[in-house]
Amino acid sequence: MEQLIERCCGLDVHRDTVAACVRAPGPGGRRTQTVQAFGTGAADLLAVGLPAGPELGRRLRALEETLPANVDTLYSNPANLREAIRMADIVVGAVYVTGGRTPILIRREMLPTMKTGAVLVDVSVDQGGLAETTRPTTHREPTYVVDGVVHYAVSNMPGAVARTSTYALTNITTPYVLRLADKGWQEACRQDPALRLGLNVVQGKVTLQPIAEQFGYAYVPPEAVL
Ligand SMILES: NC(=O)c1ccc[n+]([C@@H]2O[C@H](COP(=O)([O-])OP(=O)(O)OC[C@H]3O[C@@H](n4cnc5c(N)ncnc54)[C@H](O)[C@@H]3O)[C@@H](O)[C@H]2O)c1
Repeated sequence: MEQLIERCCGLDVHRDTVAACVRAPGPGGRRTQTVQAFGTGAADLLAVGLPAGPELGRRLRALEETLPANVDTLYSNPANLREAIRMADIVVGAVYVTGGRTPILIRREMLPTMKTGAVLVDVSVDQGGLAETTRPTTHREPTYVVDGVVHYAVSNMPGAVARTSTYALTNITTPYVLRLADKGWQEACRQDPALRLGLNVVQGKVTLQPIAEQFGYAYVPPEAVL
C-alpha cells in the first residue's frame, strides 16, 4: 500500500557536521525545503537548543496552541536565529533583559547571510539594540542600509501613533500613578512589589541589581532603604 508522508526529514551525517533537510507542506499546495547544517561538537549540539528546560518547552507549546496555525515558534539560540534570519523578509527584534543592555544577537558578519533588501526592525534600540549594526534613527530619517539589509531603529516608534499609544500606555500605568499620588512614593513602594521593581536609586544606593552590576556599584535591596 502506498503511503504519503506530509513532512519528512533526511539526515546526512559526517564526522564534523550533520546536515538536516526538512520537506513540509507550504503555501498554495507547494512544498518547502529547509536545509540546515550543525557542527557535531558538544557546543554546536547544545546550541541547537533541544533540551532547554521543561518550563520553556511548556510555554512554547502553550503559545503554539494559542497562536494561528501559520505561526511557528522556535527556541532562541544561535543556530535557530542564524537559520531564521537567512530566510526572513522582515526580522523584528524586541528582546529585553531587565535593567541591562540588550544582548547582541545579530552580529555584522551575519548580515550578508540575509536576503538583500530584507528589513531589520530593531525595537530594542532604546536599550542598545540587538544587532551590532543598530544605531538609533528618527521618524524624519528612519532607515539606513548595511550590507543590503534595511535597518529601521526609531527609538520612539509609538510616537508615530501618539494618540493610540498614549491610551495604550496610560491604561496600564494610571493605576500605578494614582497609587504613587495617593500614598507618596515611599509608602506606595513599600506596599507594592511591582512598584519596588521600578526603583533604580534610593538615597544614593543602587537598588536594581543589573544596574549595580553593569556600573560596578554595590547592590542594596530596595526593602533595606525604604
Ligand atoms: N523603539 C521603540 O520605539 C520601542 C517601543 C517600545 C518598546 N521598546 C523596547 O523594546 C524592548 C522590548 O520591550 P517589551 O516591553 O516587549 O519587553 P518585555 O520584557 O515584555 O519582552 C522582552 C522579551 O525578550 C525576551 N528575551 C530576553 N532575552 C532574549 C534572548 N536572548 N532571545 C530571545 N528573547 C529574549 C524575554 O524573554 C521577553 O519575553 C525594550 O528594550 C523596550 O524598551 C522600544
